[in-house]
Amino acid sequence: MPLKPRVQRNKEQWLVEFILKHGHVYGAELGVQKGINLKYLVNHIPHLHMIGVDIWADKSVRWDGTKSEDLIHQKENINTEFYKDIVEFAKDNHPRVVLYRHFTNYAHKFVENNSLDFVFIDAGHEYEDVLEDIDCWYPKVKPGGHVMGHDINQPQVRRAVNEKLGEGTWNWAKKQKIWYKKK
Ligand SMILES: C[S@@+](CC[C@H](N)C(=O)[O-])C[C@H]1O[C@@H](n2cnc3c(N)ncnc32)[C@H](O)[C@@H]1O
Repeated sequence: MPLKPRVQRNKEQWLVEFILKHGHVYGAELGVQKGINLKYLVNHIPHLHMIGVDIWADKSVRWDGTKSEDLIHQKENINTEFYKDIVEFAKDNHPRVVLYRHFTNYAHKFVENNSLDFVFIDAGHEYEDVLEDIDCWYPKVKPGGHVMGHDINQPQVRRAVNEKLGEGTWNWAKKQKIWYKKK
């Protein structure tokens, strides 16, 4: 008997299925960049509300002492173009999309604890970045919601997730490189 071809879902499709399956309404994405993921989720899930956090800046701002409040004052560059584009998308989808052009370890102050159904961590990918994002954003997720992130195939991401959440306590969508844990 011929084998049925397996349908390969990409990261965005997998997330849409996951969010719908769990009835999630309020989410946040840390690390938005061009908004490929955020736009896909908002366009495919009519009831979804998303917070998007990104510096939309050259990565040097992470080390040169730039203050989060000053990220808004930048010279034109590719990231400012991405920002303008996603601001238009947020306007078109008001009030379902809220953007914070801030460091993730600053923007969490704008979000109430236990208010989100999920957070998707995909900003800085260094070990320390992931540790800090879990620290700052885990409290924002409601009990029963999901803490999730991307690129779990990267050893330093996996090390941080293991250290913060405990080895063997989280799940993995291997093809999509997504880790997730119910709170
Ligand atoms: C991998 S890209 C995000 C891709 C996006 N999640 C998607 O799937 O379409 C990572 C983004 O995180 C941002 N970023 C890195 N460190 C950050 C930090 N500490 N605070 C806010 N944004 C950060 C970068 O500027 C970059 O745009």
